[in-house]
Amino acid sequence: MAPVPRLSPRYYRVRPSTASELAREGRAYAQLGRQVINLQGGHLPGEMDHGLRQVGADAWREGAIGYTEGNGLPDLRDAVIDWLELRDVRSAENVLIAAGSRSALSAVLAVITSPGDVVLVDGAAWVVFHPLVSVAGATPVPILPAQGSNADPGSRHFKLTAVDVRTQLQLMPSARAVLMANPVNPTAQLYTAEEIVAIIEVCAQAGAVCIIDRLYGKLIYDGVRYPYLPATPAVRDHCVLIDGVSRAFRGSGGLRVGWACGPFDIIEAAGRVQMFGMGPAHRVDQLVALAAITRPYDIGLIEELQGLRDLLFDSARAVPDLVAWPVAGTMYCMLDVRKFRGRTDASSWVVDTSAEFADYLLTDGGVLVAPGDIVGQEGFIRVAFSRASQDVTAGMARIALSLGRLKA
Ligand SMILES: Cc1ncc(COP(=O)(O)O)c(C=O)c1O
Repeated sequence: MAPVPRLSPRYYRVRPSTASELAREGRAYAQLGRQVINLQGGHLPGEMDHGLRQVGADAWREGAIGYTEGNGLPDLRDAVIDWLELRDVRSAENVLIAAGSRSALSAVLAVITSPGDVVLVDGAAWVVFHPLVSVAGATPVPILPAQGSNADPGSRHFKLTAVDVRTQLQLMPSARAVLMANPVNPTAQLYTAEEIVAIIEVCAQAGAVCIIDRLYGKLIYDGVRYPYLPATPAVRDHCVLIDGVSRAFRGSGGLRVGWACGPFDIIEAAGRVQMFGMGPAHRVDQLVALAAITRPYDIGLIEELQGLRDLLFDSARAVPDLVAWPVAGTMYCMLDVRKFRGRTDASSWVVDTSAEFADYLLTDGGVLVAPGDIVGQEGFIRVAFSRASQDVTAGMARIALSLGRLKA
């Protein structure tokens, strides 16, 4: 008798990404004593604020560590509404607190999809979106922009239009949801309120849910604010926001608190799934998150990141043949390396795909970057600037040297 496969076929869609393999390779290099500069991803600069750590320490000392309500601390659910500036659209009962934003997203996907359903995912997607949709039992299908694609990178930098979304929804009647991030990791673009509301309207017309991951919603530069969502019927009934603390505060990467905010039926059902599945976030983490989102925001963090962004952008622009995309938000910048494609290194090895560029920059220059296949497009690499300024400067100098060494 043929052995019964032990692992579900869904698992095979949850393979390690090129980026995580490169990160492993980078660690191996570092263990060999090579100095590797990591511009691949990571946390925000600095340590978590002392006052916030104190909130956690006090909670532990006072024994405030028992379970919370299954859908999160009521005060935190309420505070999230102000944090998201959605008081005229939502209230606390529209919020589910989870152990990180990806857990909130998993719970939402679990209740809105059935096996065989499609979830349309922005072609420029965070690497976790596709696996999470697959684990929920649905099929992720990328939406690629008709404009601003590889053929026309100058215009929208992969941002989708409502027409792109409508076209794809018409092609895929089994699509239950559209999943995207704003600001976008990896492309660092920001959809305006007008653009995002138009996409939500199109979803509403097709009976689909528009899920917007706004985890980088605080990391927006040049004085721009996060797009305000008006209280329209489409926003009320067809939009779920996913958010959390891990990309909003210094040193908050390991704090496992995120939330989903959306229509009551979805949030209530997702809360039940969470209750019987992953369980709620730890009380101490929730208390720290509550303190973090209700105190005056640390604008210094945004100013620091904006300075690092400018540093990286200016260094990238000085490299002949390299094109840096403008950065409206997040902590990343997309570098277009297509003019270097097909050039060879010292051992006549042709560098062509984005994975090969990432590999080359690690082996030749000792810089860890994320390959552009994370956006489903070859010819790009993504670099993070949420690092010490000397790492950003040295990392870009090494990238410039390595690219300059390639022979046409
Ligand atoms: C788009 C996006 N969403 C969410 C997260 C983090 O999720 P969590 O809150 O589970 O740490 C990241 C981290 O890189 C991200 O890029």
